[in-house]
Amino acid sequence: TPRVLSGVQPTGNLHLGNYLGAIRKFVPLQDSHEALYCIVDMHAITVWQDPKELRNQTVQIAAAYLAAGIDPAKAAIFNQSAVPEHAQLAWILNCVARMGWLNRMTQFKDKAGKDKEKASVGLFTYPVLMAADILVYRATHVPVGDDQKQHLELARDIATKFNNDFGAEDFFPLPEPMIQGPGARIMSLRDGTSKMSKSDPSDLSRIGMMDYADTISKKIKKAKTDPEPLPSEKDGLADRPEAKNLVGIYAALSGKSDEDVLAEFGGQGFGVFKPALAELAVEKLAPIAGEMRRLTADADYVEGILRDGAAKARAVAGPIIEETKKAVGFLV
Ligand code: TYM
Repeated sequence: TPRVLSGVQPTGNLHLGNYLGAIRKFVPLQDSHEALYCIVDMHAITVWQDPKELRNQTVQIAAAYLAAGIDPAKAAIFNQSAVPEHAQLAWILNCVARMGWLNRMTQFKDKAGKDKEKASVGLFTYPVLMAADILVYRATHVPVGDDQKQHLELARDIATKFNNDFGAEDFFPLPEPMIQGPGARIMSLRDGTSKMSKSDPSDLSRIGMMDYADTISKKIKKAKTDPEPLPSEKDGLADRPEAKNLVGIYAALSGKSDEDVLAEFGGQGFGVFKPALAELAVEKLAPIAGEMRRLTADADYVEGILRDGAAKARAVAGPIIEETKKAVGFLV
């Protein structure tokens, strides 16, 4: 059976890019695939996290999954650290992956900052843990935003090398990235050339999944744009990153194509387009934010769902880690 696995870090400021690029795409896959959606708390601690905040953020991401429409009766929702098989496989894969491969990972370069000597070892080996998240379930499909492309290529390289090294061609299936479609790369509202991110110091750069309606409207109103009206054809957006981003957000939220949006708004200025976008964003996001608030206030309920999800996930991962240990030559 096709099996999907994906994860989100519980590191605060969950935003529209996380929703449109990932979480929203998880929902229909729970009907067509066996689905596992985790909250990657072990990835979060590759940079220091306040323990109390980490607990709250973990509940918040679980609440976002549920509020977006992921059904715990269909998909396993769990936190990564509750399934120790991830860490077990990560160690084995650390011994398969090569230093040179990890040295080429752009996220480490971005996140480690200037002084690489001070970055945690975990941050360096982060993509290997991500490969373990996927391969420990023999997941076949991984829905993610565009920024995770390089990590998924690495996961495929690690799977290939493991299969070769241990002489078992189909031991790990090569996971297919699912990146296509509108919303795969949502950009900052302040700069159309950098992606919307949890770590941008400006809160105006992103629409938060817990933002209230008036905050959403204000951020869209203040979004950077150019003075030209919208074009009627997609080519007209080529050198206009901010306009392109807002059209893309409208398209992703409404389920239309960029072309449809431009057919409707071509020739109109941002004085017309921004209020329409704000109205659409509030209509789509306010109910999710409301549900997230309700669920985060009932942490016991959410934690119960995570426990059940972890049990389901362990039932899948357990036999695969046993087989992996045998393949490597561990006595089991
Ligand atoms: P994270 O927590 O940074 O982001 C969660 C998901 O949101 C997507 N995303 C975006 N999509 C579109 N536009 C944006 N501006 C944007 N920003 C973020 C990300 O691509 C991601 O899909 N390494 C992963 C978490 C992870 C994982 C995994 C994912 C750990 N193990 C296994 C898949 C499978 C990360 O940091 O995502």
